[in-house]
Amino acid sequence: MERIFIGVAWPYANGSLHLGTLAGCLLPGDIFGRYHRMKGNEVLMVSGSDEHGTPITLTAEKEGVSPKEIVDRYHEEHKRSLEDFSIKFENFTRTSNEFHKNVVKKFFLRLYEKGYIYPKKMMAFYCNNCSRFLPDRYVEGICYYCHGKARGDQCEECGRTLDVNEILEPKCKICGSTPVLKETEHLFFKLSAFEKDLLQWLNGKNFWRDNVINFTLNFIKSGLKDRAITRDIEWGVEVPVEGYENKRIYVWFDAVIGYLSASMEWAKKKGAEDEWEKWWVEEARHYYFLAKDNIPFHTIIWPAMLMGHGGLNLPYDVPANEFLTMSGEQFSKSRGVGIWLPDIAKKFDTDTIRYYLSINMPEKRDTDWNWKDFEAKVNNELVAIYGNFVHRVLTFIHKNFGKIPPYLKEGEHDRKVINEVIETFNEVGEYIEKCHFKEGIKKVMRIAQLGNQYMNASEPWKLLKEDVERCKSVMNVCARIVKILAIASAPYMPKAAEKIWHMLGYEGSVHEQRWEAAEIDENEIKMPVPLFNKIEVDKMEEVEDPFGKLDLRVAKIVGVEEHPNADRLYVIEIDLGEMGKRKIVAGIKPWYSKEELMGKKIVVITNLKKARIRGVESEGMLLAVDENGKAVLLVANAKEGSRVYVEGIEAEPAAEVSYEEFSKVKMVSKDGAIEYKGKKLRDEEGLIKTDKPVGDGYPVR
Ligand code: MF3
Ligand code: ZN
Repeated sequence: MERIFIGVAWPYANGSLHLGTLAGCLLPGDIFGRYHRMKGNEVLMVSGSDEHGTPITLTAEKEGVSPKEIVDRYHEEHKRSLEDFSIKFENFTRTSNEFHKNVVKKFFLRLYEKGYIYPKKMMAFYCNNCSRFLPDRYVEGICYYCHGKARGDQCEECGRTLDVNEILEPKCKICGSTPVLKETEHLFFKLSAFEKDLLQWLNGKNFWRDNVINFTLNFIKSGLKDRAITRDIEWGVEVPVEGYENKRIYVWFDAVIGYLSASMEWAKKKGAEDEWEKWWVEEARHYYFLAKDNIPFHTIIWPAMLMGHGGLNLPYDVPANEFLTMSGEQFSKSRGVGIWLPDIAKKFDTDTIRYYLSINMPEKRDTDWNWKDFEAKVNNELVAIYGNFVHRVLTFIHKNFGKIPPYLKEGEHDRKVINEVIETFNEVGEYIEKCHFKEGIKKVMRIAQLGNQYMNASEPWKLLKEDVERCKSVMNVCARIVKILAIASAPYMPKAAEKIWHMLGYEGSVHEQRWEAAEIDENEIKMPVPLFNKIEVDKMEEVEDPFGKLDLRVAKIVGVEEHPNADRLYVIEIDLGEMGKRKIVAGIKPWYSKEELMGKKIVVITNLKKARIRGVESEGMLLAVDENGKAVLLVANAKEGSRVYVEGIEAEPAAEVSYEEFSKVKMVSKDGAIEYKGKKLRDEEGLIKTDKPVGDGYPVR
């Protein structure tokens, strides 16, 4: 027996949950939790609503209501969505409750007393027009590192956490004016003190997902800076230090402590106050499920906080997922892009959605939610293979025998089939243990397939008249496969598994069974009902592809100069043939020397809105793969000025494209070339390639 702690990223209580959160955090956490409970391990799985910080206050300000009204509304709604989608927690709580706040204050004080939290004067954005400081999401601008969209404390594109001086062209989110820098005093967490210990702890983590470990190591190696962990804001956990009555604790510092406080609260509610220690102090494995934008908080900041505190278990694995997109665009509460759980729960059996998200989980790269594909997978796989197998076995037995018949007469292939089914079943478990959920569900479907093949080949409908004993034996084997299928699918499709369990004549819940499959019992079969019905999704309107709006061209580099005000930037002169010459600013200096660049043919977006970057105007942007923060240029072969395109999408370039529109076009590296929606980027001479080898699945910026 093992102890497993499962932390699932806490969703902000500022809007409905969407499919992205389900696919990226909730569902993988739930599959993992359900499996380990069935394995007989002691599971403590917690999360809750993240109810502080600027995501909440911004929503409240927009709606003209109090932050409390917002979080109460969405916390209740979140709980209903979890219920609808069968996401089972030991404790799903909220950060606005007193219990949590007290744990946060204690944790804070402990770090303070140990000297890991200290006061420091700093410059922060202040809006003269609104007469207020602009913490975190109240400022938007451009990321200094990748030129992506920076939202206050973090870049949405590259995921780096950001300081004020790393945000270019800052704007006040409320009034749009340019803020000024003003001095204020905050408490800082001494993150820099943990660099060595973090690296040493990460040393053993070679089993982590590539993107997670690479991102984390790059981040640390670029130098950890101490971070302000208080804010000029009214909504949040009070700072337990004199002189800071008007400030609040930074939302991320507060939220991650939720993992601990939710465990303590669970123990307390259970009437065994110290029981949380079994997971946090005694030996236990800690897994955290989250999407990639949450990585640094869980692999650097939270571990450093735990190290500073001392005596508590660190994360064991952080299998962060990539994003689920919708026609290539990231789901986002704050931008109102998404399919919301309360809506979709009304339209479809939620197990069908769990199935589609499992088989299409964004484990290694972003995956797209596609309605037609959803319909096809439900109808052709879930209904036609899985549901069909269960239904035909149960109706045959119900009609002809009433109860599961005994195994009387051996057949040639029985052993082989049973062995293969059990082997496949074991693989389901192995994949789940390794957090390879997509592979796991494929094996579940394989069991149903094996069952169907066996039944077809054995033809029990013929045997019914010719050889009843053999017919009974075949159906005994089939029923056994159905039982194994119920157990194997319980973590993925909890409701369907439960239905099968009861139709098989078992009492109790399949979720209370042990994972290790047992022999089949000669139960009476309950009246079988179909598990899943065919679905039809309304024809989604064909949206114009945003790729067509981009004007991508081959450009030859004819001049390279240092940027006068920034040490990571070059000012590059490019030749676009008939379109003439122009200058662009590019942040590739750490990776390319001037000599390397001269004469290279690269790919440039020429109709991007002009931007002043550190005082120099940039008329376009070059395209490069972002391999964990390192830029690798795309290179072309055709003549300068000619078009770069993908087959099947007509180029209808807009007069001007904003950075935001451009960033919705998700291109990724694949086999040394570049793909957009599975199609390769090319020019008249052939494929566009990267000028150095890169791994698959990295985004182009
Ligand atoms: N609310 C954050 C988000 O949606 C996640 C918080 S995870 C926690 O990005 F650990 F801090 F709670
Ligand atoms: Zn960035």
